[in-house]
Amino acid sequence: MSEKISAADTYDWFDPLYARAEGDMTQVPWALSGPAPALVDWLAKNQGQGRSAVVVGCGLGDDAEALAAAGFEVTAFDVAGSAISWAKQRFPDSLVTYTAADLFNLPADWLGKFDLVFEFRTLQALPVTVRTEAVEQVAALAKPGGAVLVVTYTRDSDEVPDDGPPWPLSELELAHFEALGLSAIARKRFQKKSSRFGDRARIQYQAPG
Ligand SMILES: C[S@@+](CC[C@H](N)C(=O)[O-])C[C@H]1O[C@@H](n2cnc3c(N)ncnc32)[C@H](O)[C@@H]1O
Repeated sequence: MSEKISAADTYDWFDPLYARAEGDMTQVPWALSGPAPALVDWLAKNQGQGRSAVVVGCGLGDDAEALAAAGFEVTAFDVAGSAISWAKQRFPDSLVTYTAADLFNLPADWLGKFDLVFEFRTLQALPVTVRTEAVEQVAALAKPGGAVLVVTYTRDSDEVPDDGPPWPLSELELAHFEALGLSAIARKRFQKKSSRFGDRARIQYQAPG
């Protein structure tokens, strides 16, 4: 008899991976040496001016720091406590509130709270089986009229890829944001030719009213 896999089983490997790296960023396959270029580009035209932002699955903190530097009041969370400790060590004078939290069990007082929700490469790191719920949890963080900025690898088929992580997002999976009532107000497709996952997108959604 096969055992049922719980959602938590699909992301419990992150914390030990960060812990095993022992401060060596080369041991974290997705670690970049700075914020996501697609976020930097977006921030050039979108400053925070004291508005609130939350970073989903913030990893080692570079995107959270870029948002704080652009004037957002930032909360950044990750299910991996070892990533949160590491981010705090990297940025000891940070203005960001780093905290360990699970996207699938969000603190009640975060729901509908943030002017901006930033999501980069967490949805795609979670299997397709939990994707609908993950999209709903990301969207639930935005306040009415707030923005949800998603930067992700994409795939052009609805077939579920058999390898991964990551599992790039399909159009249908992304469309769940709109099914929830958010509007896609800006979409940018781009490519990174040097990557096996070359197709990427930055989509800015607006939460309903
Ligand atoms: C591929 S990494 C991306 C990290 C960072 N966003 C970046 O792009 O550099 C995915 C991150 O999502 C976090 N994560 C996975 N499942 C999560 C969950 N249920 N709640 C919060 N964070 C989660 C992981 O610990 C990991 O840091």
